[in-house]
Amino acid sequence: MERRKVIDSMTDTPSGAKGSAPLGSRSDVTQKDLQQLQEQIEVLQLRIRNLESHSLELSFKSRIKFQERLGREEFFYKAFRALSFNQIDGDYVEFGSHGGTTFSLAYHQTVLHRHKAKLWAFDSFQGFPDQRDTEDEHPKWIKGKMSTSLEDFHRICAEAGVPKDSYTVVPGFYSDVLPTLAKEDSPNNIALAYIDCDLYSSTQDVLTFLWPRLKHGMILAFDDYYCWSDTQASGERIAMLEAFGESDEWELVPYLQFGWHGLAFVLQDKALNPTGLKPNF
Ligand SMILES: C[S@@+](CC[C@H](N)C(=O)[O-])C[C@H]1O[C@@H](n2cnc3c(N)ncnc32)[C@H](O)[C@@H]1O
Repeated sequence: MERRKVIDSMTDTPSGAKGSAPLGSRSDVTQKDLQQLQEQIEVLQLRIRNLESHSLELSFKSRIKFQERLGREEFFYKAFRALSFNQIDGDYVEFGSHGGTTFSLAYHQTVLHRHKAKLWAFDSFQGFPDQRDTEDEHPKWIKGKMSTSLEDFHRICAEAGVPKDSYTVVPGFYSDVLPTLAKEDSPNNIALAYIDCDLYSSTQDVLTFLWPRLKHGMILAFDDYYCWSDTQASGERIAMLEAFGESDEWELVPYLQFGWHGLAFVLQDKALNPTGLKPNF
């Protein structure tokens, strides 16, 4: 819609009626034009205030969704800003892509920061697998939940403005697919790995896949780092500690907490930190 129409539609002023005369070149702008513009701004401000109060009435669920989206958007903004600033190249790989929210947020931040990451989506597109270990127990993570079909995923990406040639999808359960991927069919230079598959066992499979692909300076984000239950510690956190806790080669430097649920780390080659010291924060 052109700018004129947008303003008309927002102010409910029919085109051509009083208050909608188009502004001409700078020298044509009169006091009256400015006054009309001021009136239109006031109408828009009123609309915004109405929208704000309406948003407060949104259902509990929508408000949570909105807040969680904001937290993740801010995370991707900072992560890609840091990767671009520090010239860490490589791909964006996502484990747990489901409804495409994080995938499209990540895509738009690569564009904003001119980061040349290619995107990869790894998901069963059939929802969660069976719980494999006791550490997988969680009231929300039930087999088949969080399922988006591959077709719907592509549609969601298209609607969110993510071009099909910017990403590759690898469908299937990780335990079946990840060990069989040929080198040329998988990401081998990774800037940001976003792990959003919730379960301990899934995170284990993902970290096994990532291990030979780790590189200094990349970011590893765990979307469910702070998800635990009354009988279990956080599965993603346990899998992360098992993989990195005793590593001679790698250390994870805490980087960003996002939302109420996630924590991201910068991967550091221990050889590049000869002090062996860790900050106590
Ligand atoms: C919380 S959802 C991901 C949400 C997504 N990031 C978004 O923004 O919409 C978790 C996803 O992980 C996937 N998943 C979990 N464990 C998996 C496994 N072992 N293999 C394949 N996909 C898995 C599920 O299919 C589910 O879609």
